[in-house]
Amino acid sequence: DRAVGRFQARLSESQVGEDGFFESDAPLIAVVLGSGLGGLAESIESPTVIRYDSLPGLAGSTAAGHRGEFLVGRMHSVRVIAMAGRLHAYEGHSIDQLTRPMALMAAMKPDAVIVSCAAGGLNPRYRVGDVVLIDEHLSLLHGQMGAFGSDLHLMRKQVPDESWSQRGFANAHRCGRSTCDDAFVQAAGRAARDGGFRLQSGTYLAVSGPNYETRAECRMMKHWGADLVGMSTVPEVALASRSGLRTLAIGVVTNMAIPDAPAVAAHDDVLAVSNAAGEKLELIVREIARSLAAE
Ligand code: 6GU
Repeated sequence: DRAVGRFQARLSESQVGEDGFFESDAPLIAVVLGSGLGGLAESIESPTVIRYDSLPGLAGSTAAGHRGEFLVGRMHSVRVIAMAGRLHAYEGHSIDQLTRPMALMAAMKPDAVIVSCAAGGLNPRYRVGDVVLIDEHLSLLHGQMGAFGSDLHLMRKQVPDESWSQRGFANAHRCGRSTCDDAFVQAAGRAARDGGFRLQSGTYLAVSGPNYETRAECRMMKHWGADLVGMSTVPEVALASRSGLRTLAIGVVTNMAIPDAPAVAAHDDVLAVSNAAGEKLELIVREIARSLAAE
């Protein structure tokens, strides 16, 4: 709560606040820019920058390709809060800690939450550079299998209280289906058609990392029904969805994780591919913005 107060105070003091950012009824879009996907930040007009570690209770980012800052400003006709870089379990954060930046964005009641990530492709129909809408997920973060690992984690830390457990179960049910917003899926489809790029959908598996998979692990993950694998996204989307926000989760296939054609994944290659795919992400965000403005 202290962090939310400080975050909002910083925004009010900033140029963004003077701009009538809070008073404006232009759609507000919260975006998480995954590994190497920071390119979208360029289209935020003179953004106000707030480092995560300048806010109480938030940690800075340590992973390569992750800046660890909020960028707040206008993009065309919408207002945007972007997380340039995110926090990961492999940096030593609990689910509670790594979702704090998302919790701050959620407190601003955005009209859309778009979470992106770099991911390894397990589905042989995918190609490097493909954009995948994540319509279902599996989570092994913190060794908790199940649709709502992060909720269970949070529940355990709360004073056991009736409303919490009910919320947890209700959300496990909701999350067992898709957390993708239908209108956002349609908008992404239009962006892909107009922009001439491939758009896939599939099941994302979240693992703790930081290592990429062994061949045997890739085989195991395919058997489980995962189409792509990464080290993030599920906790943030779970929090946004639990907060009643409309979400879309997007994975960019930065490398193929195919057991019988093993290629060693290197973080630099992952970053190079996702930089190039950033443009597709921007087209999707722009189309969602357009559709929100028209609603
Ligand atoms: Cl192949 N695996 C995991 N766990 N995360 C990734 C990845 C692979 N490619 C990008 N992120």
